[in-house]
Amino acid sequence: MRPEGYYEHFSMSITDSISRLSGYYSRNGFAATIRRASLAARRALFSNRMVVFYCDLATQKLPMAVPPSQRKVEYIKGFAELKPQDLHMMTSFWNPELAHRNISERFAKGAWLWLIKSGDDLAGYGWSLRGLTIEPYYFPLASEDVHLFDFHVFPQYRGQGMNPLLVGHILHGLARNGVSRAFIEAAEWNEAQLASLRKTPFHQLGQVSSFAIFGRKFIHWTGNENGERPQETKQGGSNAPAMARTHEQ
Ligand SMILES: CC(C)(COP(=O)(O)OP(=O)(O)OC[C@H]1O[C@@H](n2cnc3c(N)ncnc32)[C@H](O)[C@@H]1OP(=O)(O)O)[C@@H](O)C(=O)NCCC(=O)NCCS
Repeated sequence: MRPEGYYEHFSMSITDSISRLSGYYSRNGFAATIRRASLAARRALFSNRMVVFYCDLATQKLPMAVPPSQRKVEYIKGFAELKPQDLHMMTSFWNPELAHRNISERFAKGAWLWLIKSGDDLAGYGWSLRGLTIEPYYFPLASEDVHLFDFHVFPQYRGQGMNPLLVGHILHGLARNGVSRAFIEAAEWNEAQLASLRKTPFHQLGQVSSFAIFGRKFIHWTGNENGERPQETKQGGSNAPAMARTHEQ
């Protein structure tokens, strides 16, 4: 039996991929699009695991990162609060139509958008969503769990510690709001995001890959060498599966 929304999600993913590719083509031309598509195919075939991280906000002592002057972090809970220039920054570097749709869908589901500013300029952003995920996840989240997703630092600000600063602030903000565990993941090929997350209070939970056999979706976990596990919460909840285990989703 498929989870609710499985087919809608599957067909939307394909439509979105086509839409993203055509947007990339109109901005960058044929040769660059072929290079990009072949890189995406290589990653999908040979480097498709995700590295999942967690942070126990209830028990872990979080160091407070003081932002250098000129930098500040803020969060918003709805489209109306998003300044036009920030919206433009967030939507103009890829398919604007798809980007608008994603932002609306996320706010509608209750996600918070976290912005890191350098002066008045938007340097980067990331999203948090409590108790659920936008797309099907590897395990169910508990009501006091939060998923962090879609982090982006604009190219001119990369390598300056913006992302760790933003993530650190988000974790503090969430802890103040009664969240007990946070989860985030990065593709195994994404060295920049992996290096960046290792500068934050997140711990690696394991690596996960998903695959389909005869239309059934399976999740395979490996590689939590330290045996680290997030704390169980009162409600139980997310309970990420034991490592080196395959289960059907
Ligand atoms: C991943 C990302 C959010 C990291 O943000 P950041 O603020 O640059 O993070 P950091 O400053 O901690 O740098 C992380 C790593 O980026 C790499 N890096 C350094 N300078 C860089 C530059 N000018 N351009 C690109 N990457 C750079 C380095 O590997 C660095 O690790 P190191 O400090 O150990 O050398 C950012 O690179 C980004 O937006 N990438 C595209 C979107 C993405 O992949 N998002 C994550 C998945 S949702």
